[in-house]
Amino acid sequence: MCGIVGYVGNDQAAPILLKGLEKLEYRGYDSAGVAVYDGTSIQVVKKQGRLKVLEDKIHNGADLAGTVGIGHTRWATHGKPSDVNAHPHLSSSGRFAVVHNGIIENYLSLKNSLIQKGYSFVSETDTEVIAQLLDYFYEGDLLDAVVRTIGKIEGSYALGILCRDQPDRIIGIRKDSPLIVGLGTGENFIASDIPAILGKTRDIYRLKENEIAVVEKTGVTVYNPKKVFVSKTPCHIDWDVSAAEKGGYDHFMAKEIMEQPKAVRDTISPRIKNGRIVLDDIQLTEEQLRNLSRIFIVACGSAYHVGVVAKYILERYTRIPVEVDVASEFRYRAPVVDNRVLVIIISQSGETADTLAALREAKRLGARTLSIVNVVGSSIANESDDVIYTWAGPEIAVATTKAYSTQLAVIYLLAIYIADKIGTMKPEEYRHYISELEALPDKIEKTLSGRDHVRQLARRFYRSNDIFFIGRNLDYAMSLEGSLKLKEISYIHSEAYAAGELKHGTISLIEEGTLVVALATQQKLFEKMMGNVKEVKARGAVVLGVTTEDNQQIEKETDCAIYIPRTCEMMLPSLAVLPLQAFAYYVASLKGCDIDKPRNLAKSVTVE
Ligand code: G6P
Repeated sequence: MCGIVGYVGNDQAAPILLKGLEKLEYRGYDSAGVAVYDGTSIQVVKKQGRLKVLEDKIHNGADLAGTVGIGHTRWATHGKPSDVNAHPHLSSSGRFAVVHNGIIENYLSLKNSLIQKGYSFVSETDTEVIAQLLDYFYEGDLLDAVVRTIGKIEGSYALGILCRDQPDRIIGIRKDSPLIVGLGTGENFIASDIPAILGKTRDIYRLKENEIAVVEKTGVTVYNPKKVFVSKTPCHIDWDVSAAEKGGYDHFMAKEIMEQPKAVRDTISPRIKNGRIVLDDIQLTEEQLRNLSRIFIVACGSAYHVGVVAKYILERYTRIPVEVDVASEFRYRAPVVDNRVLVIIISQSGETADTLAALREAKRLGARTLSIVNVVGSSIANESDDVIYTWAGPEIAVATTKAYSTQLAVIYLLAIYIADKIGTMKPEEYRHYISELEALPDKIEKTLSGRDHVRQLARRFYRSNDIFFIGRNLDYAMSLEGSLKLKEISYIHSEAYAAGELKHGTISLIEEGTLVVALATQQKLFEKMMGNVKEVKARGAVVLGVTTEDNQQIEKETDCAIYIPRTCEMMLPSLAVLPLQAFAYYVASLKGCDIDKPRNLAKSVTVE
């Protein structure tokens, strides 16, 4: 997500902060800013756009005097990319400057109560409430104000805090977002990520959840939220810059696969309040939902595969007919669309040319449009009637993983939300699905912890020339994504088939030893799937089954198996996709492929 840097020492802070931010540029961002205490007040300079714009504005930092400061590169979540929404954010009093990485879930209610207390806000961000809250609670004891502030905010955060009244220090604190402290000589640092400080020191503290670091030039003291001193052991980093950027993983794709529990949690959790789904972000009324004659889902690539999952889910739970279209097809096929149609557009980048054109076509035909987008302020987000953002953070690997998973999460939220509004889901079912949604990030984490077994299977199969994926209904949708992931990054020929359809032609390609990955996660279709497994085994296939952990009898039919935790049927795709991503990753890695930048592919396809 966003990048944080903080410095306190004897040197001019601003150039050091800018250098640190440069090292975080690889993460992606839309604006940047710094705050430095100049001896009398906190000076803040922030600019939308590349870091270079900020660097030029302050002459690489030379314009800002002062030896203590904080800096930030922002990836927008709340509020579009702009100078005013960029961090650091100042309290109205000018006493506090804050940089933040994460999402404050209850910022709206906090903002309203602060407005009633006379505070005024200048940005659309969730972060600004933190600066104001610190000011509200500050009575001369900085640590106390920090503790009282974090007692009020809900969500995820890594924070860098600068206080005009105590300008010899910066504060770093984290919950569900990373933050480290860099330990120098006569100078110390905070950063959201190791590359930012590698040019200065290799000794760090890793802050644990809710630990508060008081960082001064002569030393760093760490406290727990009860203000009790915590003894920390420094950790020495011997990664090079490239390994550090990837958090120690070999590839961004591996890092992003492992970020999925957090990405899904960040996407779901702010939208469930007191056991209810709250979609503050959309204007779609209950009446409009009740009047819908049809839903279209339009997207490209993996986002289209989310659409295929969504069709099964939305139709099943809302009973509204759903059509899924590849964007490049939708725009030229004269779809039957009018003002009783909702067109859902799914796009990580928000800039895919065909998807954007399809959105415009849908609007021209009079449909209501709702987009599910990761990049705030992107063209698709700007032009849709409603937007639900996936808060996956920047995704660097071309092959999508965490954005895909957060798109699925939004589909569950939307399906449950619509079904509840139009009365196709009973209250007890609603409660059940909410609790399953809340448990999902932990189950994703548990599934990922089994990745070593997937790695072993990849070792067994990575020399394959063809790999087939089969499944029914939701498992068919997962087959599409598993197969795409594999061919994108490993260049192995692969096809995905609805399991019952294979025998109508493609089964002729199955030979002795061909690997077939059979997805059988849905209990009611398990026996049917075993029938299809028998069909391919009779033609010589080697079968890798994927099912839930209570279905171990699958190995009577298959040659090997991967198990995922149990969850409700609707949410099985979120778990089933994980071993498929990992399988593709390990196979590509064993083949020595350029995993993060596969040949012929682009992260964002902005041409037709
Ligand atoms: C490209 C990427 C895919 C992505 C597709 C749609 O083909 O390589 O990973 O799924 O575009 O991109 P979007 O940004 O619209 O989700």
